[in-house]
Amino acid sequence: MTKSLSLTDAKDYTISTVEQHILAQQQKHSPDATGSFSWLLSGITLATKMTEARVRRAGLLDICGAAGNRNVQGEEQQKLDVYADGAMVHCLGVRENVALIASEENEEAILFDGRSGPGKYVVLFDPLDGSSNIDVNVSVGTIFSILAMPLEAYPPADPNVAVLQPGVKQLAAGYVVYGSSTILVYTTGHGVHGFTLDPTVGAYVLSHENIRMPEQGKIYSSNDAYWDSFPEEYRNYLEYLRSGRAGRQYALRYIGSLVADFHRTLLKGGVFLYPPTASNPQGKLRLLYEANPVAFIAEQAGGMATNGSERIMEIVPRSIHQRTPLMIGSKAEMNEFQQFTRQVARA
Ligand code: AHG
Ligand code: MN
Ligand code: MN
Repeated sequence: MTKSLSLTDAKDYTISTVEQHILAQQQKHSPDATGSFSWLLSGITLATKMTEARVRRAGLLDICGAAGNRNVQGEEQQKLDVYADGAMVHCLGVRENVALIASEENEEAILFDGRSGPGKYVVLFDPLDGSSNIDVNVSVGTIFSILAMPLEAYPPADPNVAVLQPGVKQLAAGYVVYGSSTILVYTTGHGVHGFTLDPTVGAYVLSHENIRMPEQGKIYSSNDAYWDSFPEEYRNYLEYLRSGRAGRQYALRYIGSLVADFHRTLLKGGVFLYPPTASNPQGKLRLLYEANPVAFIAEQAGGMATNGSERIMEIVPRSIHQRTPLMIGSKAEMNEFQQFTRQVARA
């Protein structure tokens, strides 16, 4: 006789994993889905679990500190940057439906050859975001963006061109924050959903369905050490928030890892700003694998993302590692900022 599950037993079993969620989304929104996207996403989740396992033991492994070389950005690579990048390249490389990848840690795009046929997807990623925080136990993360592989000309004459698609072309985007817990947040254009890694079962389990960004917040997030080189409209706007003239007292929170600063903005509202600065006059954050993915998520959750004047997702990329100023957050704060840009433009 089969044992009937009592209510409590059923509660223990009714978890929804990210793989189940993706399949359900595909069946609901793309009835002809073949499960190919789910197979791709399982490569990303596996790579992030491999990285998470090292982040959690960073002080015990030889995984902290610099790797001893500089990446294409001229930044000193951390050992965990190199590991996280290797995990993503490996896990995506064994998925036949991934044709092409581009990573913050590799100068050129990588076209996976030897496939039985052209892969459907391009994956762009920042394998380890917030590297400067690794050694001091502050949240870091992984960011990814998924595009369709242009198939009109396969293999592409120049793989570095095939990845240069504006953010509006993204099929999906997401990030993982290795924080007090590990959370995966993603969108395929049908809302934003969060999955917390349950270490007891090793699965990303649905914990935040249909995340909506508050219309307005009480937190702004910027590195005010660069205050003197912020353009005037940014300084005027930040003064406005600090002064209480916005009708509420704002707090400043700045973690220094985009994924963590953005995740807080997504859940609590407010605004994150990385303006042009003297050392980064085009902005510091990279368009393809930092700004575009978080912009897609912000917009899907009811927020906005610009480079100070234009919608991030409409910027046509010119190069893989192109940088951009980034303002991202709640509608109220983002619309208020526009008044300050118009004031400066009129002056
Ligand atoms: P990465 O570690 O991938 O190079 O990214 C670091 C970025 C981003 O995570 C963060 O928002 C920004 O650098 C912080 O820059 P500052 O230290 O100049 O504030
Ligand atoms: Mn980064
Ligand atoms: Mn990085």
